[in-house]
Amino acid sequence: MKRIKVNLDKQSSLSHEICIGHTILDRIGLVIAKGNLANRYTVITDSNVSALYGEEILGVLREVNLKADLIEFPAGEVSKNMDTVLTITRELINRGVDRSSALIALGGGVTGDITGFVSSIYMRSIPYIQVPTTLLAQVDSGIGGKTGIDLPEGKNLLGTFSQPRAIFIDLRFLETLPDDEFINGLSEVVKYGIIDDVELFTLLEGKSDAIRDRDPDILQTIVERSCKIKKGIVEIDEKDIGVRRFLNFGHTIGHAIEAASGYTVTHGNAVSMGMIATARISEKMKYLPSDDRVRIQQLVRAAGLADHVPTSISTEEIISKTRTDKKKEGDSIHFVLLKKIGTPFTNGSVEEALIRETIEELKK
Ligand code: GLY
Repeated sequence: MKRIKVNLDKQSSLSHEICIGHTILDRIGLVIAKGNLANRYTVITDSNVSALYGEEILGVLREVNLKADLIEFPAGEVSKNMDTVLTITRELINRGVDRSSALIALGGGVTGDITGFVSSIYMRSIPYIQVPTTLLAQVDSGIGGKTGIDLPEGKNLLGTFSQPRAIFIDLRFLETLPDDEFINGLSEVVKYGIIDDVELFTLLEGKSDAIRDRDPDILQTIVERSCKIKKGIVEIDEKDIGVRRFLNFGHTIGHAIEAASGYTVTHGNAVSMGMIATARISEKMKYLPSDDRVRIQQLVRAAGLADHVPTSISTEEIISKTRTDKKKEGDSIHFVLLKKIGTPFTNGSVEEALIRETIEELKK
């Protein structure tokens, strides 16, 4: 089991460890017991993950004499709302969960975001631990302490920054992950290569077949590397006011495509289209060399991610959704553009006409 330290505010208990390995779930009980974080642990998970791993995690915790129980909610982004938060909160109260307790998020991004949010407001906050089970949660959403829920007006509009006390990444979970979920995470791994790590980018180019086949060794390498990149960015800019914004590369147009498609395009594929569009915009604005744009497009394709925007999605609808992106500041959208692979920067003056032209080209 590899351990990576996330170094945050030294004055408080924000710093924590990411433990990564294959088949490590059986060992997390011991690590949690040693950490002596709480008197009891409530696992929060969705109906899918509960059926696969719910009993197993409870067994692991009880084996080392930890008091543990589990609360399950219906799987899916539709559950990421205030109703679920209130249902979980009332259940915690009914079961006598108090300030000496901790929560454990067992699941993907939705579970992590809801559990982190509940833990940050329940009885003015109790600790939580992340056990991410999807590739997206293992390389991205499970790290960095962003929590939140959706409102009818938009995604993640209510939330907090609240760091987990530990993160346990068991690569075994990736074996049962549906393809769409795998792709959601893979597009974020490609993004890390593009914005931060040319070596990772080159590795992904050389190993795209093994990655698509979910070879355990290559998965371990790319998950570990991605975690190191994400934690490095969070250490510098925990509250998302500076370099953390680079993590939004491809997401402004990606989120707009996802929303304009009525969420029929997966997040991973939408982000991949967004990354290609943004690379093209960077090239057209004379920042990014054409060779780099071609490499990005080829890697997205080789990784099995989407490189074209479906003609059925209205370009005007995509443009209109970019205007409501929550990363907007005042009237300008701060795009993350590229100077070369590994060198991103933000730019507030991308013309709408250029976005329109680029999306039209990606439909051909
Ligand atoms: N997923 C973007 C961030 O954590 O900042």
